[in-house]
Amino acid sequence: MASYSSLCLIMNNIFLFFLLFGHEFLQLQAFHHVYRAQTSHSTVHHNHHQHHHQQPHRTSYHFQPPKNWINDPNGPMIYKGIYHLFYQYNPKGAVWGNIVWAHSTSTDLINWEPHDHAIYPSQPSDINGCWSGSATILPGEKPAILYTGINPKNQQVQNLAVPKNLSDPYLREWVKSPNNPLMAPTPQNHINASSFRDPTTAWIGPDGEWRVIVGSKLDARGLAVMYRSKDFVKWNQVDHPLHYKDGMGMWECPDFFPVAKTGRKGVETRVYGSQVKHVLKVSLDDTKHDVYTVGTYNWQKDIYIPNKGSIESYNGLRYDYGKYYASKTFFDSQKKRRVLWGWVNESSSVDDDIKKGWSGVQAIPRAVWLDASGKQLIQWPVVEIQKLRNNKVKLTNEVLKKGSIVEAKGVTAAQADVEISFKVENFKKAEILKPEWKDPQLLCSQKGTSTTKSGSVGPFGLLVLASNDLKEYTSVSFRVFKGQHKYVVLMCSDQSRSSLNSNNDKTTYGAFLDVDPTRENLSLRSLIDHSIVESFGIKGKGCITARVYPTLAIGDSVGLYAFNNGTDSVTITKLTAWSMKKALIN
Ligand SMILES: *[C@@H]1O[C@H](CO)[C@@H](O)[C@H](O)[C@H]1NC(C)=O
Ligand SMILES: *[C@@H]1O[C@H](CO)[C@@H](O)[C@H](O)[C@H]1NC(C)=O
Ligand SMILES: *[C@@H]1O[C@H](CO)[C@@H](O)[C@H](O)[C@H]1NC(C)=O
Ligand SMILES: *[C@@H]1O[C@H](CO)[C@@H](O)[C@H](O)[C@H]1NC(C)=O
Ligand SMILES: *[C@@H]1O[C@H](CO)[C@@H](O)[C@H](O)[C@H]1NC(C)=O
Repeated sequence: MASYSSLCLIMNNIFLFFLLFGHEFLQLQAFHHVYRAQTSHSTVHHNHHQHHHQQPHRTSYHFQPPKNWINDPNGPMIYKGIYHLFYQYNPKGAVWGNIVWAHSTSTDLINWEPHDHAIYPSQPSDINGCWSGSATILPGEKPAILYTGINPKNQQVQNLAVPKNLSDPYLREWVKSPNNPLMAPTPQNHINASSFRDPTTAWIGPDGEWRVIVGSKLDARGLAVMYRSKDFVKWNQVDHPLHYKDGMGMWECPDFFPVAKTGRKGVETRVYGSQVKHVLKVSLDDTKHDVYTVGTYNWQKDIYIPNKGSIESYNGLRYDYGKYYASKTFFDSQKKRRVLWGWVNESSSVDDDIKKGWSGVQAIPRAVWLDASGKQLIQWPVVEIQKLRNNKVKLTNEVLKKGSIVEAKGVTAAQADVEISFKVENFKKAEILKPEWKDPQLLCSQKGTSTTKSGSVGPFGLLVLASNDLKEYTSVSFRVFKGQHKYVVLMCSDQSRSSLNSNNDKTTYGAFLDVDPTRENLSLRSLIDHSIVESFGIKGKGCITARVYPTLAIGDSVGLYAFNNGTDSVTITKLTAWSMKKALIN
C-alpha cells in the first residue's frame, strides 16, 4: 500500500542540519518545513525483537546457522525439487577451524531447514578437514560431490562422495568413494600440495568425457589445473591447465560455466557452441576478491580464452565490489536460471565475533546472466526474495534539491528492501575525471559523500541503517564524472559513519558502472538486514555488499533516507521500499 504520509521530508532542527550540510545550505530549510516525528526515539522493544535486542546484528533473511563460523558455500544444487546448500562450518566455534560440510535444504532458496553434517573427516584422505567443492548431476539424475580433503600429511587432495539413498530428496547421508583421493599432488605432476583445492562442478564434453578444474598456483601464477575422466572415478590430469595467468597468485574456488549470449535464461554446463560464452571466475587469495572474465571455451583443445578487453588481473571485473568471496553458481533446472551463492564475512573484530558467537553469512542468492553488451554479467536477487516483502511505501517524482534528505517512513528500516531511481537533469556541473582517478574504491573513500565546492553531480543515493540523530548511517550513492569521451558513473558504499564502534573494518567500497547516465536513469536497490547491506546498481550492473554494526541504528530505531548532496537538484523518479518479513532459517 502506497502511503505518502509515511514519507516525509525532513529538515531537522537547525543544529542537526548544521552538522550535516554546513552553513551554505542553511537557507534551504525554508523549502522544507516538514518535521520528523520523534516517536521512534524511545520505542519500547517488543518481545519479538528481544532476540535482536540481544543480538542486534544477526540477520533475519540472510542464510546463517544459529551459531559458529561459516565460510564458502559448497555444492549448491537442486535435486527432486529441493534446493541444497552445503557450507564450510566450524561446529566448535566462531573462528575458522575443524571444517565440515554443514547442510541445509529449501524449496524456495529463502527458508531453510538444517540437516546433519553431510561430509566430515572420516577417511585418511580428509582426516584433517573437508574443504570446499562442488556438486555435479550425473546422467540419471545422480548427484556427486567432488571436494578437497586434507590428508594426514596436510596435503590437499580431491575426493568423491555420493548420496547413500537416491530416494531421499534431502540427500541426508553421503558415502565416500573407497578410491579417494581421486586427484593428488605427486612428485611428477608439479602440483603444490598446499595450493591445490576447490574442484568445480564437472562438465561433460561432446566426446563423453568429464572435465573438472581445481584451483592452484605455481609461484605467482594462478592456475586452473584440469582433469578428465570417463567414469568420474579415475581422473587423469590434462597436460595443460584450462587457463592460467601470471601475477594473480592462488586461484581459489574456481567456477566455470556457460552463459547464453542473449536472454536471461541459464544454461547447463554441457551446452557448447556459438549461442554461448563462458565465464571463468576465480577467488583471489591475495586480495580476497572474486573476479571473472567472459570468454570462449574450446572443448576440443580444452582451453579457455578470455575475450579481448576482458581484464585479467587484480583489477578484473568483480561479482561484488564490497565483501563477497568463494562464490559458486549452479544451474537451477527447475527455473532455468543460473544462481550464484557467495560468502560474506564479518567486518567486526575476532573478539566481537567470539562474543556474539557467530561469524559469516551467505549473500542472498543471485540470478546471473550475460549483459546485452556481452562484456559483463548482470546479477539480481532471486525473485523468491520478494515473497518476504511487506508494507510497501512509495514515492514518485520527488525533486531533491542540493543538500536535502527525504525519509521513507513506515518500513522496518533495519530489515528492508528498497528500490530507487534518479533522474539527473543537468550534467553541467559534473566534475572532470582526472586520468589518475583509476581506482573507484579510492575515489569513493577520498570523496566520501561530501559535496564538492566547485560543484558535482551527486553524491545522491540512500542512507541506510541510519540512527535517528544521523550519528550513524551507511550511504550508498552515485556520483557522475565527465570522462574524456563520456560520463562516468561511480557507485559508492561508504561505511565510514556506519557505527560508533571503532573496532570494525569500515572500508569504503566503490565501482565504476558501465552506463550512460544521459540515456538511463540511475537505479539502485539495497537489501538491508541488520548488519548487511547488499546493493545493486543500475539493475545489477554493479554490486556492493557491506557489513556494518550500528550501535544506535538497531531494532526500531532505524531510519531509511534518500539524499542528494550534489550541486544541482536530482529527481527521484520512483522510490519503493518494503519491510521484509523474517525468513525461517535453520
Ligand atoms: C531412502 O529414502 C526414502 C525416502 O526418504 C525412504 O523411504 C527409504 O526408507 C530410504 N531407504 C533406506 C534404505 O534408508
Ligand atoms: C606452495 O604453496 C604454499 C602455500 O601457499 C606456499 O607457501 C609455497 O611457497 C608454495 N610453493 C611453491 C613452490 O610455489
Ligand atoms: C574478511 O574481512 C576482513 C576484514 O573486514 C578482511 O580483511 C578479509 O580479507 C576478509 N576475508 C575474506 C576471505 O573475505
Ligand atoms: C554532505 O556534504 C557535507 C559537506 O561536505 C558533509 O558534511 C555531509 O556529511 C554530507 N552529507 C551526507 C549525507 O553525507
Ligand atoms: C527516467 O524516468 C522518468 C520517469 O519514470 C522517465 O519519464 C524518463 O524517460 C526516464 N529517463 C530516462 C533517460 O530513461
